[in-house]
Amino acid sequence: MIELEGLTKRYGEKVAVKDLTFTVRPGIITGFLGPNGAGKSTTMRMILGLDHPTAGDVRIDGTRYDRLKDPLTCIGALLEAKGVHPGRSAYNHLLCLAQSNGIPRQRVHEVLDTVGLTAVARKKAKGFSLGMGQRLGIAAALLGDPRILMFDEPVNGLDPEGIHWIRTLMKSLAAQGRTVFVSSHLMSEMALTADHLVVIGQGRLLADTSMAEFIERNSRSYVRVRSPQRERLLDALRQAGVTAVESGDGALEVDGSKAEYIGELAARQQLVLHELSPQQASLEEAFMRLTAESVEYHAHTGTGTPAPPRQQWGESWKKG
Ligand SMILES: Nc1ncnc2c1ncn2[C@@H]1O[C@H](COP(=O)(O)OP(=O)(O)OP(=O)(O)O)[C@@H](O)[C@H]1O
Ligand SMILES: [Mg+2]
Repeated sequence: MIELEGLTKRYGEKVAVKDLTFTVRPGIITGFLGPNGAGKSTTMRMILGLDHPTAGDVRIDGTRYDRLKDPLTCIGALLEAKGVHPGRSAYNHLLCLAQSNGIPRQRVHEVLDTVGLTAVARKKAKGFSLGMGQRLGIAAALLGDPRILMFDEPVNGLDPEGIHWIRTLMKSLAAQGRTVFVSSHLMSEMALTADHLVVIGQGRLLADTSMAEFIERNSRSYVRVRSPQRERLLDALRQAGVTAVESGDGALEVDGSKAEYIGELAARQQLVLHELSPQQASLEEAFMRLTAESVEYHAHTGTGTPAPPRQQWGESWKKG
């Protein structure tokens, strides 16, 4: 478990992280999201004691990082895959880490095998691709068999097979009851991986909720309808007081009504439907909405542009 309490980091005038309070729980994958510069990496560095908080506190299973007896056996982290001496082999890099932390040599072989680097273990790290470097960083994180794992953008540079592999790895780590805290900008990947989300913007907490609740709260759900009798359908919807917006490809998007209601309404008017599908909002859409709103809220200082308004078919619409 990782517990943050009022965590704040200031760099001169810049407040990178502001009063963050949340708990990362074991047994699930917690996704850590936020736009570029939101303060994710800074937060992760403070969790590992690599940066000192200006205010607030972090606890790793109840203890501050600098008071942990064997830190690598408590928390393993992949921050930036740059902490490897270029002239050192993957094996020697891991062996140094193991020996300086009282971890048996056998564990080096195990983690090399887990991340699929056994065949290139004796090659110098400077010849590694971005993806191989990420795998080596993940091997280092796993070395102490820690109860808590933290990954900052772990799929960076990984190919589709590698992305699938790390997703499976994180799920199995969580299923073993470990705490898994992971940041990523790949929303489609996060949607498949994370159970819980912590979202920050401009260093502040924007959301701390389950994936399902986050999507439901921050996105619009609607029903997509296509009909060859579109104009008549629009008329019927309008008379029933239902708002429809045009999707741009000839279909209509209906807010605030269930598919059953729209289908029955169309049937009563003997209207043909070619499509009637409730739309599952995406994590990306929810994320964009939430973070755009936070930018909009701070519009007097921010530079973000809110999403353009969609074309509304409301009361002003007249049958052509
Ligand atoms: N050592 C530092 N000195 C000064 N400012 C810093 C330092 N480290 C981070 N910052 C600033 O703090 C803010 C948060 O940066 P951080 O790297 O934590 O964001 P992030 O959420 O990880 O972004 P990204 O998604 O781009 O990785 C940024 O405005 C950044 O410029
Ligand atoms: Mg970062």
